[in-house]
Parts: sequence; C-alpha cells; structure tokens
Amino acid sequence: MITKIIIDRKGNLSNYKKGDFHSMFGVIREKEIKPGIVKSDIGKEFLVFDANFSDNIHGIKRGPAIAHIKDIGLIITETGIGVKSKVVDVGSGSGKIAAHLARIGCDVTTYEINPEFYKIAKENLENLKLKVEIKNQDIYEGIEEKDLDIITLDLLEPWKVIDHAQKSLKSGAFLVAYLPTITQVMEFVKNLENKFYLWKVSELLEREWHIEGLKVRPKNQMLGHTAFLVFARKI
Ligand SMILES: C[S@@+](CC[C@H](N)C(=O)[O-])C[C@H]1O[C@@H](n2cnc3c(N)ncnc32)[C@H](O)[C@@H]1O
Repeated sequence: MITKIIIDRKGNLSNYKKGDFHSMFGVIREKEIKPGIVKSDIGKEFLVFDANFSDNIHGIKRGPAIAHIKDIGLIITETGIGVKSKVVDVGSGSGKIAAHLARIGCDVTTYEINPEFYKIAKENLENLKLKVEIKNQDIYEGIEEKDLDIITLDLLEPWKVIDHAQKSLKSGAFLVAYLPTITQVMEFVKNLENKFYLWKVSELLEREWHIEGLKVRPKNQMLGHTAFLVFARKI
C-alpha cells in the first residue's frame, strides 16, 4: 500500500510506502514523514500528503490494457449505479473497473478467463481491501448472476455476451461495452437489435492545462484515444 505522496521542490511526485525516503534533495527519516511540509537532512522542503484510494489504484500491478478513469467516471454517472447495485464486470484484467465500482458500494462479481490476469486482479483487489467476487471463468459460457443492474464488458468480442446479458439483467438495466475500435462498436451495436435499446455511444476526450503565471495553455501532450463507450438498456 502507498501510504504517502511526497512532492519535491521540482514538482516530482513519489509514491511512498515505508522506511526512510531518499532523493536527490536529501533523505527524510521515516518518523518525520507526516502530512504537511517536511525537511530533508540537508534542509530541503518537501510536501507530504496522506495517500488515498486514487493514489493506490493508480499504482496497482498491471496485466493487460487498463481502463481509463475518465471513462470509468462516465460509466458510473451515465448508468446511475451506486451502493448495492448488482454488477458483473468482464474481463477483470488488472481489476480496475471492478475496483472503482466496488469502491462506490456496488456488489461486484468480475470474470477473468486468463489465470495469470485472474491472479493479478485478485491480488490488486485484496490490496485495495475491496470485497469483490472474482471468477476464473469464460464469460462466453454464461453468466451465473441474475437480476443485475449493470454489466460492464471490456474484452475483445463483447457481442458474444449479449444473449447471456439479456438473461441476467433487469429490464431497463445497462449493458456497457468499453471498445478501443469503431469496428468493434459497429459489430456490437448490430448484435444488440431487438434485445437492447441503444442508449448512447460516446467518446470522452480529456485535456489537461498548464497554469503557471502568464503561461496558461493546454498541455503539449494529450491522451488521444482510450476507448468508445456503448451504453445499451435491456428491453
Ligand atoms: C482489456 S482487459 C480488461 C481490463 C480491465 N477492465 C481493467 O481495467 O483492469 C481484457 C480482459 O478480458 C479477459 N477476457 C478475454 N476474453 C474473456 C472471456 N471470454 N471471459 C472472461 N474474460 C475474458 C482478458 O484475459 C483480459 O484480461
């Protein structure tokens, strides 16, 4: 677990766990690492914050491509899920979508076919102290859970899950697909016909700004594309 965030005079951020902290601006002894301004053995100042959930999820062990928080935010707000919503998430990957949904109080079950990624997701979710049921199972074989409020799909061929999803979701509940390519979106939407109502297809772009005196402008680097999100509701 990351316990503190330490920021040096140049704005470099470090994820701190335990022990003495060594940097090019000197050493801070473990007993002195507390929230606020602290000084190293050579008198240089650092800013220290307590680490929170976001800091820790940012530092999780990574398996396959991981979902982006801007997109997870839209999934949560568009579908209106929250405490006690019943969720199935596929595939677990590193467990990031599952973790964010569990964090807001959803009752989450996540499926992962690959034993190696299953282990990574399990370890990450345990380290984050989240109660999530994780199954090392192929979702194409079926979904055991019923009366679901939402199913999130982040895998290569989500259209193979549509028939199973129809049997497991409540009427009006959301099926959400996170898809990197538009050809996947086309195939998924084609297969929804007569089973799901196409609610929304969307892509979110986030642009960070640099704010320093009169230098106020968008940052040079921008994350160009993460995924398209398809929201469909069970008829
Ligand atoms: C892009 S990753 C998911 C990342 C995850 N949403 C996250 O943010 O950490 C896709 C995952 O789907 C898994 N997967 C692929 N086909 C599957 C299937 N039929 N059943 C369950 N999991 C599957 C893959 O092994 C892979 O770990």
